[in-house]
Amino acid sequence: MSAVPSHSHNGYPTAPANVRHRSLVKWVESIARLACPQRVIWCDGSRAEFDGLCAQMVDSGTLLRLDPEKRPSSFLARSDPSDVARVEDRTFICSERQEDAGPTNNWMDPRQMRSTLHELFTGCMRGRTLYVVPFSMGPIGSPIAKIGVELTDSPYVVVSMHRMTRVGTAVLDALGETGAFVPCVHSVGLPLAPGQADVAWPCNPTKYIAHFPETREIWSFGSGYGGNALLGKKCLALRIASVMGRDEGWLAEHMLILAVTTPEGRKFHVAAAFPSACGKTNFAMLVPPASYAGWKVTTIGEDIAWIRPGRDGRLYAMNPEAGVFGVAPGTGRRTNPNAIRMLASDVLFTNVALTDERDVWWEGQSEPPAHCIDWQGRDWTPQAAAAEGRKAAHPNSRFTVAARQCPSIDPDWENPMGVPIDAFVFGGRRSTTVPLVTEANGWNEGVYMAATLASETTAAQAGSQGVLRRDPFAMLPFIGYHVGDYFAHWLRIGERIAMGEAPLPRMFCVNWFRTDERGGFIWPGYAENMRVLEWIVGRVAETRGGTSTFLGTSPRYEDLRWDGLQFDRSAFERAIALDPGQWRRELDSHAEFFARLGDRVPDALARTRARILARLPY
Ligand code: GTP
Ligand code: SPV
Ligand code: MN
Repeated sequence: MSAVPSHSHNGYPTAPANVRHRSLVKWVESIARLACPQRVIWCDGSRAEFDGLCAQMVDSGTLLRLDPEKRPSSFLARSDPSDVARVEDRTFICSERQEDAGPTNNWMDPRQMRSTLHELFTGCMRGRTLYVVPFSMGPIGSPIAKIGVELTDSPYVVVSMHRMTRVGTAVLDALGETGAFVPCVHSVGLPLAPGQADVAWPCNPTKYIAHFPETREIWSFGSGYGGNALLGKKCLALRIASVMGRDEGWLAEHMLILAVTTPEGRKFHVAAAFPSACGKTNFAMLVPPASYAGWKVTTIGEDIAWIRPGRDGRLYAMNPEAGVFGVAPGTGRRTNPNAIRMLASDVLFTNVALTDERDVWWEGQSEPPAHCIDWQGRDWTPQAAAAEGRKAAHPNSRFTVAARQCPSIDPDWENPMGVPIDAFVFGGRRSTTVPLVTEANGWNEGVYMAATLASETTAAQAGSQGVLRRDPFAMLPFIGYHVGDYFAHWLRIGERIAMGEAPLPRMFCVNWFRTDERGGFIWPGYAENMRVLEWIVGRVAETRGGTSTFLGTSPRYEDLRWDGLQFDRSAFERAIALDPGQWRRELDSHAEFFARLGDRVPDALARTRARILARLPY
């Protein structure tokens, strides 16, 4: 009954009584000794903890409280202008052997990385609090969930983890005395000398996002933003989980998961991989157009899917996250009404604009306000913006919100075993060449299309935008091992399912982003993507026709439903057309891509390429 905490030999209070995991406690102590925080706090995931940290960040200037009537329990954070997106060139896979990281990852020798990190982390939390954040990816206690523990000196990261994962005491209980967890160490890398004032968004120009796939550890230094810092997301649920999946026979993918229910009550599940900021959140929350009376689209996940074969031989997909870290710009009442409703309260916004009513605004939300404060805290007016080309919200500004606030959330979204997948969809941002939709000729040709997926880069990653790059399976920045082995893993999963009774999921490719001569999108997108989705599930049900092409099967104009949309046959032709000349160049570029990846790329992909090439008309 002592009010004074007992202290361990290193001077930090010992772990709370409910922490029975000796090696967890030892590890926390060792990181505390290295980083020298002022104090250590074990997080319990409670509302009180969340509220307390937000209040503290409002006082310190990290958060602004939004108008409690317009946006109850919501906050705005503005990051340092140098810390606004994932840093792919500072992301490392530190496997023992370089060839196991493969040609698409930055590699560093694990010993060298450990010594670099040791130096960077020495004393890096001075003057700050080290928070211990136990979290579960997947419903706590699900046999396929994974536990991580993030040690961070950023309270912004703690409250974000509260929203994005399941945090707290129940996780420690699930961990017990000996349970496995992924250790995740994070620091913003800005220690404070005694008396030194803090800044609103501490970070360090030196950044490392390091993964040790063999020992399944994550270390992140220097950034407080998104996937760099919320280590459950890209680092654990994709890079480390992809390695676990390779070893254990499952898949960790950059995919949304949605369900389509027909007026007859038949329910289909679709998982779709699009690169960062290419429409996963939008597609996952699609509201069918008015002409789709009786149709329903519900959301299981919008960024990450863990997929494994079930006892019945089908593939089951689960959303390991508990929240949404969504792109704000372009999110409006027309484009994503479900997201707009989800953002009514309890939202943490980062790098959007602040209105004079203490609400938030971003490009594409609604008509621009006459005046607001931009994401860097400067005055912004539509006139000045037009003159300078200055955006009010950063193009990668985001909202962080609990998934359960999504109006279209599916009743099965926390099903511990996931939902059975009927179709996989792969799509990128392609102004030319790739048609609106194609069904692949079976699993292997679908894997080929996914492996050669390309997309024009967006603001979700630091660096230049609009550059076409290959982004296999929308996983280029997220595969934790050799990309050739990853392709082989997908082919093997297909072989295994094909040996059973259950049908293989159908494979599709989509492109919402084809442009016309004037640079405008040909396809209206958003809600109208329902017309493509209906065709996709119609193919699964074998109730929809199409025409055979050199790529696969395309819908004809009459295979899609058009009521309620003005989109004539010639517009459709422009959206769906396959140009043999463009595809000859495209297939050449696939060959160059495979050559760059080296000899771990399965031969089956080269054989598929030869088959498609042979089908090309002259
Ligand atoms: P990450 O969270 O970065 O992985 O991205 P995401 O794939 O979830 O991207 P999101 O759904 O947030 O979309 C990002 C951008 O794509 C937004 O600016 C959207 O407005 C735009 N977008 C989404 N769907 C469509 C579409 O059907 N057509 C067009 N033209 N743009 C779209
Ligand atoms: C992405 O970039 O694909 C995201 C955002 O989902 S982040 O979590 O920052 O990686
Ligand atoms: Mn993503």
